[in-house]
Amino acid sequence: MKNICHICCIGAGYVGGPTMSVIADKCPDIQIKVVDINPERISAWNSSDLSKLPIYEPGLDQIVSRTRGRNLFFSTDIENSISEADMVFISVNTPTKTSGLGAGQASDLRWVEASARQVAQCAKGHTIVVEKSTLPVRTAQTIKEILDTTKQNNLVQGKNPTFSVLSNPEFLAEGTAVNDLERPDRVLVGGEDTDAIESLVNIYLKWVPLERIIKTNLWSSELSKLTANAFLAQRISSINSISALCEVTGADVAEVSNAIGADKRIGREFLAPGPGFGGSCFKKDILNLVYLCGYFGIPEVGNYWQQVVELNNWQQKRICKIVLQKLFGTVNGKHIAILGFSFKANTNDTRESPAIQISLDLLEEGAKLSIYDPKVKPQRIQEDIDEYSKNSPGQWTVANDISEALKGADALLILTDWDEFKNLDWNYLSTLMRTPTWVFDTRSVVNSIDIKNAGINLWRLGEGV
Ligand code: NAD
Ligand code: UGA
Repeated sequence: MKNICHICCIGAGYVGGPTMSVIADKCPDIQIKVVDINPERISAWNSSDLSKLPIYEPGLDQIVSRTRGRNLFFSTDIENSISEADMVFISVNTPTKTSGLGAGQASDLRWVEASARQVAQCAKGHTIVVEKSTLPVRTAQTIKEILDTTKQNNLVQGKNPTFSVLSNPEFLAEGTAVNDLERPDRVLVGGEDTDAIESLVNIYLKWVPLERIIKTNLWSSELSKLTANAFLAQRISSINSISALCEVTGADVAEVSNAIGADKRIGREFLAPGPGFGGSCFKKDILNLVYLCGYFGIPEVGNYWQQVVELNNWQQKRICKIVLQKLFGTVNGKHIAILGFSFKANTNDTRESPAIQISLDLLEEGAKLSIYDPKVKPQRIQEDIDEYSKNSPGQWTVANDISEALKGADALLILTDWDEFKNLDWNYLSTLMRTPTWVFDTRSVVNSIDIKNAGINLWRLGEGV
């Protein structure tokens, strides 16, 4: 079994950055280089001001401060970092294809392929290549072929590289990444080369109990990652579908969720209704699953999973309709405050955030939005909204705090479950708003009694009347 002294991680994003920081923290004997083609991202990771790291993740700044420069390095020198490494993690983006065959469903593997080619060209000796990105089942085969056929130049230079490919999908969730990495429910390692598997398992054993490390074949590992995300997303679409039924029947989705979650076969996690799931992965991974089902000739299975995404789209779209209905059928020219723009609390990530679609729908109706989020930068909001709202009659601005967002507002929408939205002084805030005043709480974070006592109308997602 090869003892790993040098790791290179290709991709310094939401997965590569935190994952390597935690490995560096737990394994001070391993030198880790995290590399990226994006120089701005690398320079942000190297920023002496830890509040300027490219991603916001609670607890990450402390880990980076004790490992960076010791055994953790962020760099754009991809070639040398690969050459030095015994093990290379591929942790690059795998978004949904936007054009060509499989557009709108299949994962775009161009960054994975480029990484594999670069590894083949730069590696020396025996290198273990670890798929950390979420990939379609059987991608390891493609990576192996690329590594074996591209290494010719390298052979000529006498570097004589050989490779083992492992699958080690990541299950961290944003906002809780540090805890998820330090105390994972399980670590999954798929592969055929038992020596390579043991080398990777030995790294995790520095902090993860053996019984939490699951070994499978390559294809089970790749497919388990897609399946885990599909199951989690399915639970959210399930409870969101019931939230709509609660609203028209007088049931309360919080009570239903509590009642069904008490059955330990169902369990309590992932039963919180909301404005629809966001994030870079649930939708893309389910669409990828749907594509694979079509490719392998089982469209019936694909259709089943497609419905999870359809329900999610519907849930996002229905929020604007409810706002319109409550505000006398029009929001044209009305001031609406949006609290929360990230796709969930404790992250600055807005990828696929339901707040984007809901804001666009309201702008299309001519609303004047004032958007506040504790961690998302104004430029990010601008990029998310501007591209799709060019011809909308509405207007939008970014507010610096909650009071500014609420000034003169007819209504307020809570779209992200940030802690700071939970205990607001509604008696004071109501004085800033126009009457009749509405609060639309899609995350069940506000205290309904406080709101009603302040003379504000409340609509809460999944609460029947
Ligand atoms: P990301 O977009 O934040 O980061 C990917 C990085 O890879 C980018 O900085 C990009 O510049 C870099 N990159 C792309 N091609 C490169 C190349 N050839 N050489 C060097 N760098 C390159 O993406 P992410 O959120 O970190 O996701 C990465 C993968 O992990 C995806 O497959 C995703 O599905 C999976 N995943 C993500 C999460 C999550 O919470 N975000 C969780 C589990 C798994
Ligand atoms: C998710 C999975 O939880 C991770 O295990 C996985 O590694 C990751 O995707 C990935 O592959 O990228 P993440 O998207 O970061 O993690 O965050 P989640 O906590 O899963 O939340 C996703 C979305 O679902 C958010 O918009 C969240 O608000 C929503 N959600 C979550 C609900 O609406 N209700 C819930 O009960 C839980």
